Amino acid sequence: YKRITTKSLVEMKENGEKISMLTAYDYTMAKIVDSSGVDVILVGDSASNVMAGHETTLPITLDQMIYHASAVVRAAQRALIVVDLPFGSYQSDPKEALRSAIRIMKESGGHAVKLEGGKEIKESIKRILNAGIPVMGHLGLTPQSIYKFGTYTVRAKEEEEAEKLIEDAKMLERVGCFALVLEKIPAALAQKVAESISIPVIGIGAGNGVDGQVLVLHDMIGMTHEFSPRFLRRYMNLYEDMTMAIGQYVSDVKTVDFPNENEQY
Ligand code: KIV
Ligand code: NA
Repeated sequence: YKRITTKSLVEMKENGEKISMLTAYDYTMAKIVDSSGVDVILVGDSASNVMAGHETTLPITLDQMIYHASAVVRAAQRALIVVDLPFGSYQSDPKEALRSAIRIMKESGGHAVKLEGGKEIKESIKRILNAGIPVMGHLGLTPQSIYKFGTYTVRAKEEEEAEKLIEDAKMLERVGCFALVLEKIPAALAQKVAESISIPVIGIGAGNGVDGQVLVLHDMIGMTHEFSPRFLRRYMNLYEDMTMAIGQYVSDVKTVDFPNENEQY
């Protein structure tokens, strides 16, 4: 396989080819996602929820993100691997942001980093880009700010927040980000952003007028079942399938059906 690069993604937008992105946090899953032809694997800080069971993305650490990312890097041969900078690893100043991004690049082997926010973190983004590290932006519902928002509902429905989002998106393009994620905003606004900048816009809960889509892997394969936002399409119901399979195993053990004659030495 030819490796997808940040350049390939910009070309895909130019050619009108939509970009597919999914999260992965470990070797085994990343292997499946990569072989299935997904263009971008995001080692998201949603690992905090999905892998560790935290209520928010805030607790996950840089060391933990590096652990997840390095496992994904060992698995993927084709996909571009983007790694989230976790909460607290880039907000205090641009030097800290660069140090954190360098640690991710050196210690995990990922290909790019993603940071949440607009003009508040402009200097940090510029410093990371200056070091030769590709940056993906993330605007709209940025989960690291959940305690500021107070709710996981749709962002930028009001004029003022929508205007700021458009300005932030243009700024991210201007400073040199290779792409950006728009999370949970009105489809019309997302389309407007995608049409007004030349870098790819990847949406989650942002409609189909953007340049690509991203979902959390465990949600789209139905491994999680308590989380059901409107934007989520479930392609499997693994929670049910696994519960059935594991229940069957328990029963087979109890009834001494497993192992049978062919399953022993
Ligand atoms: O951490 C994550 O999974 C993300 C995506 C939802 C964009 O940031
Ligand atoms: Na994230």
